[in-house]
Amino acid sequence: MEKTLRGRCEAHGQGHVFRFWGTLNAEERGRLLEQLAQVEFPLMERLAREWILETPPPARFERIEPVPVLPAAVHRGEGAPEAWDAGEAALRAGKVGLFLVAGGQGTRLGFPGPKGCYPIGPLTGKTLFQYHAEKLLNLRRRFGCALPWYIMVSAANEAATRAYFAENGHFGLGAENVVFLRQRMVPCMDGAGRFMLEAPGSLAMNPNGHGGCIPAMVENGVLDDARARGVEMLSYFQVDNWAVKVADPYFIGWHALKGAEMSSKVHRKNTAREAVGVHCLCDGVYQVIEYSELDIYPQLLETDAAGNVRYFAGNPAMHILSVEFVQGVFNRFDRFPWHLARKKIPFVNDAGELVKPDTPNGCKFETFVFDALQLVRHAPVAVEIGRLGEYTPTKQFEGDNSVVASRQSMAEWWGGWFNAAGAAVPRDAGGRVAVPLEVSPLFALTRDEFVEKAAGRVWDLSRGLSVDADGNTETPAAPSA
Ligand code: UD1
Repeated sequence: MEKTLRGRCEAHGQGHVFRFWGTLNAEERGRLLEQLAQVEFPLMERLAREWILETPPPARFERIEPVPVLPAAVHRGEGAPEAWDAGEAALRAGKVGLFLVAGGQGTRLGFPGPKGCYPIGPLTGKTLFQYHAEKLLNLRRRFGCALPWYIMVSAANEAATRAYFAENGHFGLGAENVVFLRQRMVPCMDGAGRFMLEAPGSLAMNPNGHGGCIPAMVENGVLDDARARGVEMLSYFQVDNWAVKVADPYFIGWHALKGAEMSSKVHRKNTAREAVGVHCLCDGVYQVIEYSELDIYPQLLETDAAGNVRYFAGNPAMHILSVEFVQGVFNRFDRFPWHLARKKIPFVNDAGELVKPDTPNGCKFETFVFDALQLVRHAPVAVEIGRLGEYTPTKQFEGDNSVVASRQSMAEWWGGWFNAAGAAVPRDAGGRVAVPLEVSPLFALTRDEFVEKAAGRVWDLSRGLSVDADGNTETPAAPSA
C-alpha cells in the first residue's frame, strides 16, 4: 500500500507529502495512507492545471438572460390544483424521497457540532434536524407514505450526526428509513498546486461540495435503495433552513406534470448583492451563478428604475431531482464543473510546525449540485416562492440570514397562524411579532391544519408560547423581579 501510494504521489508531483514519514507512528501512517487512497490524482492534477497554474479567463458567457419562472401567484392560480393532485399522487404512491445535504459544520454559528444539531427553537431548543424530522412525520401521517430520508454527511460530522439520530431514536422515523451517506473529501492545494499537510501525518482536505451528492448517491448505494423502494424523485434541501417545505406537493406536482429531470424553487433577491446564487440563462444554458462570482458578471447586479433586481431569481437551494437523472449526471461526472475558493488553510511547514495564515494561502475545490441544471434535456422548472414560511436560512448568529432572524421569522410565520385562529398576537410599534412562538410541525404543518386543530382554544401569547405535537403548550417563565 505504502509503495503504491508513494509511487502515485511521485508520479503526480506530490511526493512531498511523505516528508515526515520517518517521524510518524503506525496510526499516523495508516491515516495518511487512508487519505491518499481516496485521492483521485488525475482529477487533482487537472484541477491544479486548469485553475491554479493556468488561471482561467474570468468571463465565460457572452449573453446572460433571466430564466423563465413560474410566478408565486401560480401556486394558487390556474394549474395549481392539478399540480397539487399530481404531487399528492406521487407522495401517496411512495415515489418521493427526501435528500438533505448536511455535510457542513456549525462553525459560522460559533457552534461546535454538525449544523443540523443547532438548537434553533427559541423556546424548545429543538434542533434543525428535529424540525425537518417532524415535518417528515406529518407528511407521512397525511399521505400514508414512507418518505425515506437520505442525509449526506461528511468525514467531519458523520459520527456525531449518526450518534445524534441514534440518541433521539431517529425521531420515530425508523432507523431503516434514515439513510446516511458520506461525501468524499478532496485535498487542499497551495499556490503551486501541491497538496498541503494539516499535520505531519495528515493531508489538509475539504468535503467535495454538495455536488458531491451525485457520486455519493451512486457509490453509497442510495440510488439502488431508492429504486428498490419505488422512489422516482428526491426532494433536495439544505440543513440550515428551518422553514423549508420538504416534499412540497405543489413543487413535486409541477416537476411531475412538466416531466422535468431537475426543478428548482427560486425567491426574489432582497438586494443585488444578497449572498445567494442566481438562476439565469448563460448563452442559452440554464445555470446558477454563485454569489461569489457576481462581480464577473456585472449585469447580474443591475436594478430597474424602481430599484428591483433584474436578475431576481435567487437560489434557496431547493430542488427536485429525478432518480434516473442523478444516474445520468453520475455517468458524466468526469465532466462536471468544479469551483475554486481561495482560503486560509492552516498547514505544517518544512520544520513540522503548524502555521495559521492571516491571508488566503491555499485552494479548496468544490462541486455544486446546481451545476446539474446545465445537463437537463428540457428547460428546468423554476417555481417562485415567498420567503416567509419557506426560506430563512441560518448562516450566522446575528444579522441577515442568522439565528436571530430565523427565530423572528418563526414568530412572524406562526404569529400569522395564531392570528388566523383568533388569538391576539403581541406586536411592537413596527408591527413585528414581539414574543417568541413555536408550533411543532407534528401538531400542524399548514395554517389550515392549525386553524382546524385550534378551533375552540384560547391562547395566551403575552409572554410567547410553544405548542408541542399533541397541542400542549408551554410559556416561558416570567422574568424575575
Ligand atoms: C448556498 C448556495 C447558494 C444558495 C444558498 C442558499 C453553495 C455553494 N451555495 O450558499 O447558491 O443561494 O446556499 O442558502 O452551496 N454542504 C455539504 N457538503 C459540502 C458543502 C456544503 O453537505 O461539501 C451543505 C451544507 O451542510 C449546507 C449546504 O450544503 O446544508 C450549503 O452550504 P453553505 O456553506 O451553507 O452554503 P452557502 O455559501 O450559504
